Amino acid sequence: NFTPKAFVSEMVAELKEKLQDDKVVLGLSGGVDSTVAAVLLHQAIGKNLYCIFVNNGLLRKNEFQNVLDQYKGMGLNVKGVDSGDRFLSELAGVSDPETKRKIIGRVFIEVFDDESHLIEDVKWLAQGTIYPDVIESVSVKGPSATIKSHHNVGGLPDYMKLKIVEPLRMLFKDEVRRVGASLGIDPELLGRHPFPGPGLSIRILGDITPEKVRILQEVDSVFIEGLKSWGLYDKVWQAGAILLPVNSVGVMGDERTYEKVIALRAVESTDGMTADWVHLPYDFLMKVSNDIINKVKGVNRVVYDISSKPPATIEWE
Ligand code: XMP
Repeated sequence: NFTPKAFVSEMVAELKEKLQDDKVVLGLSGGVDSTVAAVLLHQAIGKNLYCIFVNNGLLRKNEFQNVLDQYKGMGLNVKGVDSGDRFLSELAGVSDPETKRKIIGRVFIEVFDDESHLIEDVKWLAQGTIYPDVIESVSVKGPSATIKSHHNVGGLPDYMKLKIVEPLRMLFKDEVRRVGASLGIDPELLGRHPFPGPGLSIRILGDITPEKVRILQEVDSVFIEGLKSWGLYDKVWQAGAILLPVNSVGVMGDERTYEKVIALRAVESTDGMTADWVHLPYDFLMKVSNDIINKVKGVNRVVYDISSKPPATIEWE
């Protein structure tokens, strides 16, 4: 019997009490969690909330500019920092998934740290951590095995010396969305699928190049826009495309081609901990596969991932 309205009024009061006139810095990701956290904090402390939105060069097509404009339209005090080239050059030649995550985590912290130092006398770091993040990172640190290092949890370097505030820490995703709705956030933004912090880097298997990022952004955009126009987007927990590190043979006119293979992934889930692949209509898969191959240069084959979690995971890395 969770009531978003009550949560908002209690949390805003709690944040006011806790933060007083202190300055708070928050990293916006374009996702639901950080956005809801920001709007909640903005209600509590207004302009004392400083938001930073970093482009790591691994966001979806046009996402940096679109989301930045949206944030500004919401009245948030936000600075967009375009560091795409820096991330991509640090990632050049790296194929190992955990190394990619670590590099992105490190560079993000460096960029974020530089930016927060520009805010005079900032005292707090706010994060959009939600309950499943807390659980997964505990299990990651457990003795059994390292699963994945979710870089958005516990990623605070000691030298920043900021106190942490995490207003959504006890909430599940659906509760965060309901809180967001009661705060008046655009339903389209609230309905966005989860997207991993390391972005497209873990959907480009193998090493990352600007050209591969471009290909995957185009493919992803055809897939996601297709889901939207077929009314399927909201029926899916999460969807995306994966660029495989293999080439396959194809034909184009009289020519033999030897180009990239794309895997499409769409899953149903309630919290990301378990997931089933979505039985997308064959007609949709046919259309989207044709569109991808026709529109995106460098791709000649599309496959659909029919694995569930467990034993597979949602991402491929
Ligand atoms: P898996 O692939 O473990 O993913 O089934 C579960 C959920 O977590 C997201 N994910 C990540 N999110 N940093 C993130 O912020 C990461 O390194 C990361 N890896 C996976 C994934 O997209 C899915 O929603």
